Amino acid sequence: KIINVILSGGVGSRLWPLSRKSRPKQYLPIFEGKTLFGLTVERNLEVSSKVILVGSSSNKDLAEPYLKNVEHDIIAEAAPRNTAAAIAFAAFHAEPDDILVVTPSDHLIEGQEAYAEAINQGIMFAQRGFIATFGIIPTRPETGYGYIEHDQNNVLSFREKPNEDTAKEFLKQGNFLWNSGIFCFKAGVYLEELMRFEPKLYNASEVAFEYAVDLVLDEDHSMKIPSKSIDYAVLERSDLIKVVPASFEWSDMGAFDSLYTYYRTKGHKQDENGNIVVGSKKHTVFVGLSNCMLISTEDAVLVLDRSRAQDVKQVYEALEKDN
Ligand code: GDD
Ligand code: MG
Repeated sequence: KIINVILSGGVGSRLWPLSRKSRPKQYLPIFEGKTLFGLTVERNLEVSSKVILVGSSSNKDLAEPYLKNVEHDIIAEAAPRNTAAAIAFAAFHAEPDDILVVTPSDHLIEGQEAYAEAINQGIMFAQRGFIATFGIIPTRPETGYGYIEHDQNNVLSFREKPNEDTAKEFLKQGNFLWNSGIFCFKAGVYLEELMRFEPKLYNASEVAFEYAVDLVLDEDHSMKIPSKSIDYAVLERSDLIKVVPASFEWSDMGAFDSLYTYYRTKGHKQDENGNIVVGSKKHTVFVGLSNCMLISTEDAVLVLDRSRAQDVKQVYEALEKDN
């Protein structure tokens, strides 16, 4: 069986005030009326026959409407313990020979045909016992991504979140791809590798999953799981990694700069200085500003210089502290 494991972890703090705890970014209908979560489900229906959603319990109500027509289970986490554990829960829940197509739910991907083709190639590697990753041609020395050093489908090394000098070096070398955060493997293969490299994390995840009631995990057992991403826990260490160079368009909708690019390519209205308004129909004028965004919601307004998109996280964190 081929199962789409959808990870829905964070709150999307860098997209405040659009993204809120009560409605994280993947559930905002801002992509031509669709949500990133809905698009993720649709995109993977073609390559899988079941969904396992792993996310905080607040996801349950938000996600159900998109999962009506597909066989699915929802694993509700008591606390985020990072991706190595989140994926382990899905793997424990599946059969060892099931193939898991693990996808984040906060990425925008365009080109369904190229996507399905890449995933099907990944599934073929998974059937042969490999862990498939999907690589994107890097366009800047981004330090927030993982890099895959490769020779065609063979992975020479996997390097999670390098510093800027190293990232620049990778771009210069030319045989590095960005890790898209999408993975494909047999549930049993992932668990074996996790057991090999992170036995404590494996055991604590297994115990927490055993104590779950109706797939709802409890906090006591969850907090005993070391918080580590699959990238550091398994991908940097395993010899079973393959990479499928992707030809679909991919962007991580982590912050407003990617949203800005998205809106501009979709022909969203902008003034002559590249300023755009999101969420308001009021006549808005920008004087002496360029490449700015005004984001308006019912109870908050954000005015942002596009180049400072990453700093929105601090605004969110400061607000959290005050409450
Ligand atoms: N359910 C659940 N529980 N999901 C989680 C958790 C968790 O505890 N932690 C993270 N996630 C989800 C996030 O919501 C996101 O969809 C995905 O797992 C990846 O986590 P991020 O926190 O966004 O990781 P990252 O962006 O720092 O890095 C990863 O993604 C990059 C591409 O966007 C790595 O895989 C990088 O190598 C990769 O380049
Ligand atoms: Mg991310």
